[in-house]
Amino acid sequence: MRAYKSKVVAPIRLPDREERAANLERAGYNAFELDSADVFVDLLTDSGTGTMSQDQWAAMMRGDEAYAGSESFDELEAAVSDVMGFDRILPAHQGRGAENVLYGALVSEGDYVPNNTHFDTTRAHIANAGAEPVDCPVEGALSGDRTFAGNLDVGKVRDLADDVGADRIPAIVVTITNNSLAGQPVSVENLRAARDAADDLDATLVVDACRFAENAYFVREREPEFADASIAEIAREQLSYADAVVMSGKKDGLVNVGGFVGLRPGDDDLFERARERAILYEGFTTYGGMAGRDVAAMAVGLREAVESSYLDDRIGQVRRLGDMLADRDVPVVRPTGGHAVYVDAGAFLPEIPAERFPGQALVCELYREGGVRAVELGSLAFPDTDRPELVRLALPRRTYGADHLEHVAETFGAVAERRDAGEISGLEIVDEPEMAELRHFSASLRPVA
Ligand code: F0G
Repeated sequence: MRAYKSKVVAPIRLPDREERAANLERAGYNAFELDSADVFVDLLTDSGTGTMSQDQWAAMMRGDEAYAGSESFDELEAAVSDVMGFDRILPAHQGRGAENVLYGALVSEGDYVPNNTHFDTTRAHIANAGAEPVDCPVEGALSGDRTFAGNLDVGKVRDLADDVGADRIPAIVVTITNNSLAGQPVSVENLRAARDAADDLDATLVVDACRFAENAYFVREREPEFADASIAEIAREQLSYADAVVMSGKKDGLVNVGGFVGLRPGDDDLFERARERAILYEGFTTYGGMAGRDVAAMAVGLREAVESSYLDDRIGQVRRLGDMLADRDVPVVRPTGGHAVYVDAGAFLPEIPAERFPGQALVCELYREGGVRAVELGSLAFPDTDRPELVRLALPRRTYGADHLEHVAETFGAVAERRDAGEISGLEIVDEPEMAELRHFSASLRPVA
């Protein structure tokens, strides 16, 4: 049940069928090229797309826009300390800005950086620093026990150290929840094991904490030790094992923009190196690329993100959408993760081979049938890998209601009917950018029989 009511509304409109077909064609069958005004239910991302509370909007009005020593910074510093347990922060314009600040200070040419699974921008920043990002998910994570399918395979990290030498591993990263692995959670037990490995290898343990509150919710539900703990307690406990956090406030900061690096008081060398980079790339250390008002809103958002009533609604919505789709025989990854429902498009559209992009075909059909925007995370987004053909339906925070979810489920029903009638074709690329890693953002495609 929603623990809030609407106070400000934004109108949305479902264009008619002919318009939707024309919009798709004009967008080159690429959902990133659609105008948001033409989208009815927008599940492209949960990043920066949520709704702020009245307390956050009130804080915006009080935002202190001073270049240095802003009061809003003090509020953020206090919130990060209370909610996440990190007493030193360097604000950044968003998560990838924080990644640039931290990884540039921590990682050097020729290093290796293991992570349960690197998110795209994390991978890119580590590669940009001259190091090799290494994914260490649990073997068969999505086919085995899914209690904590997002976990880091700590054994793989230790094997990597045996292969390349511990001195080549400056950092171990754990991403909570594991966005690239269907938003699945990581256990506190796993974070403790990662801590032990970091101690043994003399590495810095970094947590990518974008969705730390959602992760804490799953820990309370699934890790018996924490059954009676509050989300706020778990949120702090799970981060207490880390030496540093990188944060995109656009997720569990409940804001539309912003981020930060969190560090421990002891590590002065790392803090100094990161601080220099923060000033160079983001801005002075009390605003880091954000307006003071955005800093103020994030200070409030972080506290709201660990309220049980908020998370009951949030995780409940994702779960409900997953159940509604599963009831219609849509193959979804279950149990669902924290921020999105992931659909196996390869299984949903078995007639379309990988080279004809079944995930992207499903994305296009969801728009054609219901004005729903999702994102492909299969062979279009990750060329030359053998990942499953997933489509992600990410739910913006505090934004859509049960009727919107119902609309998404009905849209899947309409797509299934077209599939059964043999009306859905695959796609081929007409035009793509030079960097293959970025092609899903700007490639244009066309249907092919
Ligand atoms: N780390 C993770 C795990 C993320 O999911 C993201 C962003 C980032 C870092 C980068 O943060 O966008 O603020 O620069 N994920 C968004 C998504 C874009 O749609 O999953 P950012």
